[in-house]
Amino acid sequence: MKTLRILALVLALGMAGLAHAADGDTLLKDSGCMSCHAKAEKVVGPAFLSIADKYRGDKDAVATLVQSIQNGSKGKWGRMPMPPHASISQDDLKTLARHVLAMKP
Ligand code: HEC
Repeated sequence: MKTLRILALVLALGMAGLAHAADGDTLLKDSGCMSCHAKAEKVVGPAFLSIADKYRGDKDAVATLVQSIQNGSKGKWGRMPMPPHASISQDDLKTLARHVLAMKP
């Protein structure tokens, strides 16, 4: 009985981990990012590919983007500001930042 329960727990954790890791695009959609951003074109905000380009080779890029997404950003890309996203967890912020930085054409 006990072994079964542990097995179920391990399975559930494993699946949550998988869903999370594979989930950059879903997270972008579910967090409302795609109403202002697109992968390859500027919409209200800059194209994710342009962002990936700008921060390529910057070792602080994940931390910088986590800050920008969480607290909002203005003046870096144009006159339009990005509003803060205070309710996104640190884990999800990092997933989002890494996902944007890893985008390839
Ligand atoms: C209301 C429109 C809007 C929404 C919603 C939005 N963004 Fe933005 N985003 C912008 C604008 C405008 C900028 C450019 C800000 C600037 O010039 O500093 C930007 C900039 C960025 C940057 C670059 C920041 C930097 O420091 O260079 C990233 C990364 C980003 N957005 C990711 C996201 C993610 C992830 C989400 C969803 C959680 C999101 N955005 C939701 C409008 C938006």
